[in-house]
Amino acid sequence: MDRETEVRLIREIIGLAEQKSAFLDDSIAHSPISRYTSPERFERERAMIFRRKPVIAAQSSELEGENAFLTKDFMGLPLLLVRKSDGEVGAYLNVCRHRGARLEREATGCKRLFTCPYHAWSFSNDGALRGVPHEDQGFPDLQRAERGLRKLPVSEAYGFIWIIANPDAADIPDIEVWLSGMAPDLDWIGLADHRIAAIEEVDIKANWKVLMEGGMEAYHFRVAHKNTIGPYFPDNLLTYSTFGPHMRAVLPRISMPDLHQIPEENWQIRQDANMVYTLMANTQLLVQQDHVMWFHFEPVSEALTHMRMATLVPKSSPLTDEMQEHWDKNQKITVTALMEDFVLGEEIQAGFASRGNPSHLFGRFEGALHRLNVTVEEMIAG
Ligand code: FES
Ligand SMILES: [Fe+2]
Repeated sequence: MDRETEVRLIREIIGLAEQKSAFLDDSIAHSPISRYTSPERFERERAMIFRRKPVIAAQSSELEGENAFLTKDFMGLPLLLVRKSDGEVGAYLNVCRHRGARLEREATGCKRLFTCPYHAWSFSNDGALRGVPHEDQGFPDLQRAERGLRKLPVSEAYGFIWIIANPDAADIPDIEVWLSGMAPDLDWIGLADHRIAAIEEVDIKANWKVLMEGGMEAYHFRVAHKNTIGPYFPDNLLTYSTFGPHMRAVLPRISMPDLHQIPEENWQIRQDANMVYTLMANTQLLVQQDHVMWFHFEPVSEALTHMRMATLVPKSSPLTDEMQEHWDKNQKITVTALMEDFVLGEEIQAGFASRGNPSHLFGRFEGALHRLNVTVEEMIAG
């Protein structure tokens, strides 16, 4: 974020606080519940968004050092991510090209050669098939070049490893272009210089959009989070901007409206506001004063979402027990508040079955939620 944007956003919040109003869209919007309940709709989202657009598979620090590797599952795809000797990242399906065994079983490690646990075919970390036991007898005409690991388009940028989760995809777009103007903000956050200090995973019985929507309005803060984070935020005060399919929401702390009392050159948005960056379609970043929370969404079905929640901290922060305690405490505070949202999300999802509402209502200060859904509609329409 450049200085001009930072000051402009703070001025906007001070102005909104004076008017006692969040940023308002022109009108309310309706969101049909089939968006959150239909299995056919979910399959379209999977095919048109999660298998077609760049998604974040990992944070760069998870794959540090020559020949490091990482295995993960992303929406049913077993992934093998590697750091090749030239420093570039490779992404493959973690599936042996003989008869399909899971090639690498460990979650992380360091290897140049991967040997299948079934019949010991081996593959180098550039994906090439290297060894086939009894090849002359068993596979006399084997075209090794055609039996390398299936590659996924991959790119490393802004501290993350991005993939197209589809081995049939030809290429991945330039991530700076994909970010549609949000790149300067990500540069400013500087996640390439961050590491994971704490992480946990959880399955939530709710549609992924219900969960994302929860991070895009401040209307619920004083109510749903009254016993946790609510008192630290003004009631229902937020502004948001879109960057192509992505979004930045600014959630001021109670101190921000008072910034007009100090000289503008001392204003720092991270000191007095949280920012939520929604990177379509599987990432939200909650930027706080000295760390960033990374929320990784993996929709499993229309009614189930696997989430990873991680505290990303600057690599320059000391690796002491004291600091680790600090980060663990931070993670706990955030996850406790988030679980309040997730419980609501599960209740909302369960309520869909009652058909009590044919649609949800987004108020004028919930415009970001409407934008998210419009973006999804556009993407699944092709
Ligand atoms: S399935 Fe991997 S070597 Fe046979
Ligand atoms: Fe919340």
